Amino acid sequence: MTEIPRQPGKIIDLRSDTVTKPTAEMREAMKNAAVGDDILRDDPTVIELEELSAGMFGKEAALLTISGTMSNEIAVMAFTRPGDEIVVFADSHLYNLEAGGISALSGAQPRPLKSDTGVYDTDELSRAIMPPGVQRARTRLICLENSFHLDRGLAVERSRYADTVEIARRHGLRIFMDGARIFNAALATGTKVDELTGFCDAVDVCLCKGLAAPLGSMLMGSRGFIDEARRIRQRIGGGMRQAGVIAAPGILALTRMVERLSEDHENAETLRQGLESMGLRTDRGGILTNIVNLDVSPAGWRAPLFAERLAGHGVRVKVCTEQTLRMVLHNDIGARDVSFVVDRVGKILLGRG
Ligand SMILES: Cc1ncc(COP(=O)(O)O)c(C=O)c1O
Repeated sequence: MTEIPRQPGKIIDLRSDTVTKPTAEMREAMKNAAVGDDILRDDPTVIELEELSAGMFGKEAALLTISGTMSNEIAVMAFTRPGDEIVVFADSHLYNLEAGGISALSGAQPRPLKSDTGVYDTDELSRAIMPPGVQRARTRLICLENSFHLDRGLAVERSRYADTVEIARRHGLRIFMDGARIFNAALATGTKVDELTGFCDAVDVCLCKGLAAPLGSMLMGSRGFIDEARRIRQRIGGGMRQAGVIAAPGILALTRMVERLSEDHENAETLRQGLESMGLRTDRGGILTNIVNLDVSPAGWRAPLFAERLAGHGVRVKVCTEQTLRMVLHNDIGARDVSFVVDRVGKILLGRG
């Protein structure tokens, strides 16, 4: 087979979909955005983005925040008081990668539950909810994440949440969904995003992952919730002035970039098949999206060394464990890049790369 030449200076960055650059259209929209002071609610572009996203998610209102982390933390703060308890996935972003924000910012304590699928085990979830009592924390909130697990990207279907919803309603608990990649999950499950998240009291989505905006996240919920979220955003220094420059690419992210995520899913599947054809193992434990979780141990490799070899070919990946790597497909990665990666993986395995 002929070798696919490396384009001089080209880096194929598969570490995350957060590395996407804003499109030329986004940069143009930033330049031309109508702006105003958003703390005074004078920014027409922010208002347009917030109304657009609230409509797409079928919620009363929405708030633009700086990041998915900020949206997540604001949601927990809005739904809890210090000393309350929240149920989270042990492998969630909220619990692992927000610098201890749950306890530092809201004063709530997390009760992490292990899940392999992005759905809580019904019995475990029931047991995790504190019974009333003077010695008990009050459970207030159940947190979800869809797609689930930032190293696996599993899409969870709406029907699989039925027990969680029933338990939450029975105990009067709120449900919050970290939907950083919810559009990936919606496409992969063939569900409209408002149907997939309709049961949630609040949900957020990131504009800057596969949707390619430079930054920003939208938090959606009832008008009362968003009013409170806006106050909390101000308290933690997240109120913004001429934020239309962020909102303008955000509007393009929601109107132009959602459908194209299916290309990332197709490229991810081509990559999985290419890697598997060489005797490597990929995670196929559910409905897959734009994240490829690769186990290099069947070929006798350790992931850190494999990643180093790939870097030598201009391919950057994230090392997850000693055995596994993450490769994330996104707007800046095309089918040719996928072929190049498969080709170079083949060379490394043959000891020629
Ligand atoms: C599942 C999930 N939630 C939340 C976030 C936080 O987003 P940000 O890094 O923009 O704060 C990420 C970021 O990768 C994520 O993967």
